[in-house]
Amino acid sequence: MLIAKTNKELKKFLENPEINQKIGFVPTMGALHLGHLKLIEKSKKENLFTVVSIFVNPKQFNNKEDFNKYPITINEDIELLKSVNCNLLYMPSYEEIYPSGLENINIPLHDLDKVYEGEKRPGHFAGVAAVVHRLFSLVEPHKAFFGLKDFQQCIVIKNLRDQYFKNIKLKFCPTIREKCGLAMSSRNKRLSKEGLKIASNIYKAMKEVKSNFNKIEINTALSEGLKILKQYPIEIDYFSVANKHSLKPNKQWMPVRNNVLLVAVIVEDVRLIDNIVI
Ligand code: PAF
Repeated sequence: MLIAKTNKELKKFLENPEINQKIGFVPTMGALHLGHLKLIEKSKKENLFTVVSIFVNPKQFNNKEDFNKYPITINEDIELLKSVNCNLLYMPSYEEIYPSGLENINIPLHDLDKVYEGEKRPGHFAGVAAVVHRLFSLVEPHKAFFGLKDFQQCIVIKNLRDQYFKNIKLKFCPTIREKCGLAMSSRNKRLSKEGLKIASNIYKAMKEVKSNFNKIEINTALSEGLKILKQYPIEIDYFSVANKHSLKPNKQWMPVRNNVLLVAVIVEDVRLIDNIVI
């Protein structure tokens, strides 16, 4: 596996005209888990050459403590990447991503940052859009792969692509779950065994809403799901149904498709998000 730490090295490795236009890209912040490996597997199937980036982007952490606590497992990550035959790992420094003059890229977000994660974590999506803009410009992939666990992030990235990178195909891939239903996330590493058990109720609650969705009024369906969560030490940040394209909250009875249930909760001080299309 090739490793590029600078943009110069990255450029050199990607120069080969054979791989040009057949590049699959999986941007990550490291602490890799099966969810990431599935994205890489998909990229390997669909592209000649797969690039994975590891960059813990400080601009997307609105909370400094959260940034400091973010798990760094670079040696394990490199071994995992080798095991799935990743072609190139790009692990740039802060200066490579944000050289002077490019520290403050401002991407229009069209209010997608005003709801749910955006509202709760001011600046988060501006940071995500800035780094993905930079990464797309440097890697110039043909296809880019993201996990649907970060549903709102996928919508923000689609908005970025539509504005600046019309030639990049986006592939949003299903959430990979633990056996208990908990969505795989680098943050799960911060939960105790008991915390993991408690957090598995998020999926149960979401499934409860989904199973009731076309039968009863939305608010009643949501209350049934919330009843499950309230039996445990789970702090609820939001638990709400939105239009899956616009992310506008859906407050009425609407037995049609195009809805997503978006969830953010806190378990043992760890903020977890999940979603289910209903
Ligand atoms: O989902 C992530 O890991 C990050 O938000 C991303 C897309 C790599 C940008 O830093």
